[in-house]
Amino acid sequence: MCGIIGIVVSKGAIKERLGSVLRKCLKNLEYRGYDSVGFAIINWNNELIVRRSKGKIDEVSRKLGFDDYDGHTGIAHTRWATHGKPSDVNAHPHIDCTKKIAVVHNGVIENYQELKRELLMKGHVFTSETDTEVIAHLIEEYKKKGIGTYEALKEAIRHLKGAYALAVIDKDEPGKIFFARNTSPLVIGIGKNEGVMFIASDIPAFLEYTNHVIVLNDGEIGFITSSQVFLEHINYGIVNVNERIRVVDWTPEMAKKAGYPHYMLKEIHEQPLALSSTLAGIGSEAHKLAELIASSKYVYLTGAGTSYHACLIAEYLLNDLVGIKATAFIASEYGRFRKSIARNDLLIAVSQSGETIDTLMAVRRAKNKGAIIAAISNVIDSAIPRESHIAVYTRAGPEIGVAATKTFTTQVLLLTWIIIKAAEIKGELSPKRTSEMLDLLKKIPDIVNTTIRITEPSARKISSEIALKTNAYYLGRGLAVPISMEGALKLKEIAYIHAEAYPAGESKHGPIALVEEGFPVFFTILSDEYKDLIIANIEEMRARGAWIITVAPKDHEKAFSISSFAFKMPRLEYWAETIPYIIPYQLIAYYTSITRGYDPDKPRNLAKTVTVE
Ligand code: AGP
Repeated sequence: MCGIIGIVVSKGAIKERLGSVLRKCLKNLEYRGYDSVGFAIINWNNELIVRRSKGKIDEVSRKLGFDDYDGHTGIAHTRWATHGKPSDVNAHPHIDCTKKIAVVHNGVIENYQELKRELLMKGHVFTSETDTEVIAHLIEEYKKKGIGTYEALKEAIRHLKGAYALAVIDKDEPGKIFFARNTSPLVIGIGKNEGVMFIASDIPAFLEYTNHVIVLNDGEIGFITSSQVFLEHINYGIVNVNERIRVVDWTPEMAKKAGYPHYMLKEIHEQPLALSSTLAGIGSEAHKLAELIASSKYVYLTGAGTSYHACLIAEYLLNDLVGIKATAFIASEYGRFRKSIARNDLLIAVSQSGETIDTLMAVRRAKNKGAIIAAISNVIDSAIPRESHIAVYTRAGPEIGVAATKTFTTQVLLLTWIIIKAAEIKGELSPKRTSEMLDLLKKIPDIVNTTIRITEPSARKISSEIALKTNAYYLGRGLAVPISMEGALKLKEIAYIHAEAYPAGESKHGPIALVEEGFPVFFTILSDEYKDLIIANIEEMRARGAWIITVAPKDHEKAFSISSFAFKMPRLEYWAETIPYIIPYQLIAYYTSITRGYDPDKPRNLAKTVTVE
């Protein structure tokens, strides 16, 4: 939630104006929130200029003339509102009473009301409803003791409760950006050219300028100048910066649209490549996790949204292929297992971003109870992998579209690989059968490639009819249930059509009451034990006038003969079908969103990474 960028430059180090570089970098963070935008720049005369407004980056930067401003030190912010509605006054940066200090923040300050009361009593004047504004006034207040901005920020931090990634500039100390991190992500980018330094919420922000990064840890605080990074831990002292620099292998092209109208479509089409990269990246950590699973009595899996759906698939396969009891739970519902998660239980936390606060909190709570934590993530060194005992990466490349697509299929591929290996280690699969199954997984990138090519025209065609509907059901049995849930989530989040997923057998226990002439019902059928049983469920829906759309193996004539629309899919083994069978649903959601005139990359009320509980 919320994107932050900060840049310090020395004279002549970059050709463009600072305002324009800030705008470009901020645009790469738009997936983190987009209800209001603002920047603060210290210009070459050392004056502080602050501009902010409600709206998305393109519109606001045109209105405020972002690109016209130049200077040496600047911070900018794209907001996803938590405290205070989206409005001009609630947009960041927030400033203090002296109008010298500007602050951008991602996170939530839990004790801001208490701090605000104290500051009001001391005579501070607030202009917004946000929690962030207290930080600017707190720094101002501590500076009155005669200390510098950095010391004042340190003091302020000691009084803040909650989550924050902060970037602060002060007209009294031009040429520096002060920062602090607790729970919300923050990364430093060391400019390739001498004299440029970045700080941002996420690496894609500055990837065009540098791939040399320092991922900050919780409790870290410091400042950057155009040529230097000063970093320390609030409790443990100075950090050796050189030891922390990492070189990421993402290219700026990977984070751009590459000619597609939307990131989401690009990311759908990138799946064959992303899946190949997941397979190529499988190494010792994946093997270690397979061994851990094989030696566990009980496995928990947790995640949110799409990542939770990947957990559900893994739960099913752990039971089915390894014979291990497994339970997937929604991370924010950790309380259900608070008492039962015990020392040495294995918890697999799945998170594309590695920063989702619900998942991070479940990890922390289970870790406190002595559980062994394994992370499956796409972002190297993000919070969840860092706080886990073992981390395995999907290596799908940056995902910018708010709707998860390539990160879902790569999560499922990676988990399936690990589970097959665990089954072999446990003696549930022979080495011969294991290598047959792994060989099939190696073919998945090609199969997905063909699936996209074959299903895209049909998805586009059917989307014009789906766009006219207000509700839809997604039904399946067994492993097809999480696929249905993921399909329904995609349609809901980007096409704003109410969609619900159920186990098909459950629909007659209530949901069928809603079905009337033309009600769309998507059936997912895999090559498993349910493939014939589900026919009765299709008939029940058809008898009530439902409009049946079926995604099933291409030779399932029976199913197609009673459906109004067919997606004829490759017939594989059921456990490998999960990956290609989600493709038509991703495409249907995308084209329906476009037909209805929405922007699938920026669904309303959503942010790519949810860093509030
Ligand atoms: C999926 O399309 C979503 N935008 C959302 O449900 C997402 O999967 C969820 O917020 C979890 O994110 P994570 O994988 O980064 O933890």
